[in-house]
Amino acid sequence: MIVFATNNAHKLDEVRQILGNSMEVLSLKDIGCNVDIPETADTFEGNAWQKARYVKEHFGYDCMADDSGLEVDALGGEPGVRSARYAATADGQGHDSEANMDLLLTKMQNITDRRARFRTALALIYNGDEQLFNGVVEGHILTERHGMGGFGYDPIFQPSGYDLSFAEMTAEQKNAISHRGRAIQQLVQYLNSNK
Ligand code: IMP
Repeated sequence: MIVFATNNAHKLDEVRQILGNSMEVLSLKDIGCNVDIPETADTFEGNAWQKARYVKEHFGYDCMADDSGLEVDALGGEPGVRSARYAATADGQGHDSEANMDLLLTKMQNITDRRARFRTALALIYNGDEQLFNGVVEGHILTERHGMGGFGYDPIFQPSGYDLSFAEMTAEQKNAISHRGRAIQQLVQYLNSNK
């Protein structure tokens, strides 16, 4: 049994699907953790470890935790760890995907180098061992939204080698090549050979 430090149903499904019946995966809600676990580090790795260690220290369970975001080369790696709250203002407005995409598209208006990548750090504390898995998908930022699926920046991100944005792909297509999918596949491989 392992805790995934998230209440995101989509992420839970993804991990449960890949692990199959081989291991039970519990959410934060399942273990009675209803607080917003601090994510104050300035790297994806730092935030993933912060969440995994919080669960281990406060609840005693083995745990996995992820942190992801979008890095745009021409913007020096922005929005990075601030991906979820990129357009948020001090009064809490603009904390949503539409505002985040609008801000990014505006900043990219006159920029021709549109290279970007999604990155996931996935921290695992299991049987007294600590492991970190990294997943990356390279691509570029489109000039306008394409597609209705997915979440976050999916409509404006096109992975290298594909003619579709993430929002135009099926969940299966996206999971097979996405940053999170790749990190999760490595973690599941590790768990399956260390059960
Ligand atoms: P999280 O750490 O996975 O919750 O991701 C933080 C933020 O990065 C999200 O709120 C999104 O804005 C962005 N993000 C992460 N993964 C994806 C993705 O697969 N598609 C689009 N946006 C993503």
